[in-house]
Amino acid sequence: MMMMTLTTPVTQNNLTVLALHPTHATLLDQTALPATVQYVEIHTPQAMAEAIQTMIVRGAPAIGIAGAFGIVLSARIALKATDSTEAFHQHILADAQLLRKSRPTAVNLMWAVDRMLAYLATLLIAETPLAEIVEKLATEALAIHEEDLQANYAMGRFGAELLPENARIHTHCNAGALATAGHGTALGVVREAFAQGKCSMVYADETRPRLQGGKLTTWELVQAGIPVTLVCDGMSGHMMQKGMVDAVIVGADRIASNGDAANKIGTYNLALAAKAHGVPFYVAAPSSTFDFSLASGQEIPIEEREADEVLGLDGNRYAPEGVRVYNPGFDVTPAHCIAGIITEKGVIFPPFLENLKTLLG
Ligand code: MRU
Repeated sequence: MMMMTLTTPVTQNNLTVLALHPTHATLLDQTALPATVQYVEIHTPQAMAEAIQTMIVRGAPAIGIAGAFGIVLSARIALKATDSTEAFHQHILADAQLLRKSRPTAVNLMWAVDRMLAYLATLLIAETPLAEIVEKLATEALAIHEEDLQANYAMGRFGAELLPENARIHTHCNAGALATAGHGTALGVVREAFAQGKCSMVYADETRPRLQGGKLTTWELVQAGIPVTLVCDGMSGHMMQKGMVDAVIVGADRIASNGDAANKIGTYNLALAAKAHGVPFYVAAPSSTFDFSLASGQEIPIEEREADEVLGLDGNRYAPEGVRVYNPGFDVTPAHCIAGIITEKGVIFPPFLENLKTLLG
């Protein structure tokens, strides 16, 4: 991986989270934000899998796009390595496995890699020349990127309609431009509501242990000029009790057939607080986040990450030696806590089992 540090600040309007170039891909290094804006050059699918695993790129839709770019990098390398169609195919299939396994919870990653493989299969059946296949795969990956961007704009429009005037919106983790092709899912709704004069404040949970809220959501919203207040994860019950929150909007990493939604650890606590105080809790997610092969959220694989993330902050350990750590990266909010799921095709209300399939199935 090669690092490039930018000397000029990147503003929201020209922020590029991921890009595909003729020889490589670039990723905005989210582990360095907000202190440093630097891009990482990715030349191989192995480096892309590592960037996903280490969270240089993160957020469900963004890692899906990164996975699709990884397949393009794989195809380019395979084209140089072999003339054999079978060897070309096997090379890409092996890299696809690596990419699919780089993170387990967000289904957008598997969805995007599988979409690329399905397209590859149709091109191979049509006996398309290998060089042409590489070009077509790049076009497909860029289509995934563009479709995600357009889905975010659509979710923003649908979601903003749900909000009252001067809404004070509580969010968790980062479901913004950084987690997607741009604009964001939950923060896409915030951006649209703010543009319509309907959002007076965003409360951003800091989102322990990796602080995606404290570092990334705040960074995005400050740049966009949207009022944001940073709060600790444990403050939501208190804030709702005091009547400070009109709606909760979060993203999702995987949504099961019954509407159960996995998202960053701590989301479930926020949903419970919202339910107890009658605050509507919305999930904003594109159709690539739905996994209709799962009956309920109990089947969603939950990533467990390293103990170091919990033992300290930014590599500075504060916990004593000998302590044990439990560090699930995600939790599942049951459908009964969710007032509506905002998708690019419209808002889905309960009962989710029927209504999800009607709109998306
Ligand atoms: O571990 P992360 O930072 O990849 O987790 C991200 C989240 O949980 C987001 O809320 C989710 O991916 C939705 S992003 C539009």
